[in-house]
Amino acid sequence: MLIVLLGPPAAGKGTQAKKICNSLSIPHISTGSILRQNISEKTPLGEVASLYINKGDLVPDEVIIAVVKDRLRQPDCAKGALLDGFPRTLRQAEELDELIQVDKVIDIEVSRQILTERVTGRRVCKNCGTNYHISVYTESNCNCGGSLQTREDDTEAALAVRLNNYDKQTLPLRQYYAGDNRLIQVSGIGTPAEVFERIKEALA
Ligand code: AP5
Repeated sequence: MLIVLLGPPAAGKGTQAKKICNSLSIPHISTGSILRQNISEKTPLGEVASLYINKGDLVPDEVIIAVVKDRLRQPDCAKGALLDGFPRTLRQAEELDELIQVDKVIDIEVSRQILTERVTGRRVCKNCGTNYHISVYTESNCNCGGSLQTREDDTEAALAVRLNNYDKQTLPLRQYYAGDNRLIQVSGIGTPAEVFERIKEALA
């Protein structure tokens, strides 16, 4: 099964992706994580991505489409995958449909005020990439021992750019996927476990 997770920045896509992938035993493909990994390894892709990502801008379609095509060709995706953060533009969605059958699209809805709270309180493990929120996790290190840091694009200024891009470029995908009944809209309000229960019910 090929699942797409849609939703604004900090809606909880990464948090829910882990739970969905564990329960369905499919790989989690987060385009944001792939780009951040490449930035930290200073690869050619990372050099291009860093021109956009820290300001909150989208990387160019042709760059990210090539990354996803390559990732979906890996053997671990033979029985499906979950795409977290892709597609984000109409062109990305159309190219994905040409490449593979997208079965379900889960759109996580959260109010703007809660998005801001989630972004400004997020801390990410430098070692394993696990996300935490300072309102529920007060340790200075991750469970794996790695140090926690704030993402460079988790400033209020970058969030404003990310939300603007989301409204203009990604929101139209709701209509694109609703047109042939692939869209499932789920409230992202509540605990991660409560949100996951809604997603499980919607996928059943
Ligand atoms: P990406 O990494 O995909 O960022 P994003 O879409 O902005 O989403 P986030 O990672 O910020 O949040 P999330 O929805 O995963 O929420 P999370 O679970 O962490 O992309 C980053 C950048 O890469 C883009 O801006 C762009 O530049 C580039 N890029 C990526 N894909 C691209 C593409 N396809 N095309 C072009 N460019 C692309 O949760 C957030 C916080 O809230 C955490 O602290 C978490 O602990 C907490 N939380 C989660 N759920 C709950 C809950 N239910 N209750 C309370 N707290 C919660």
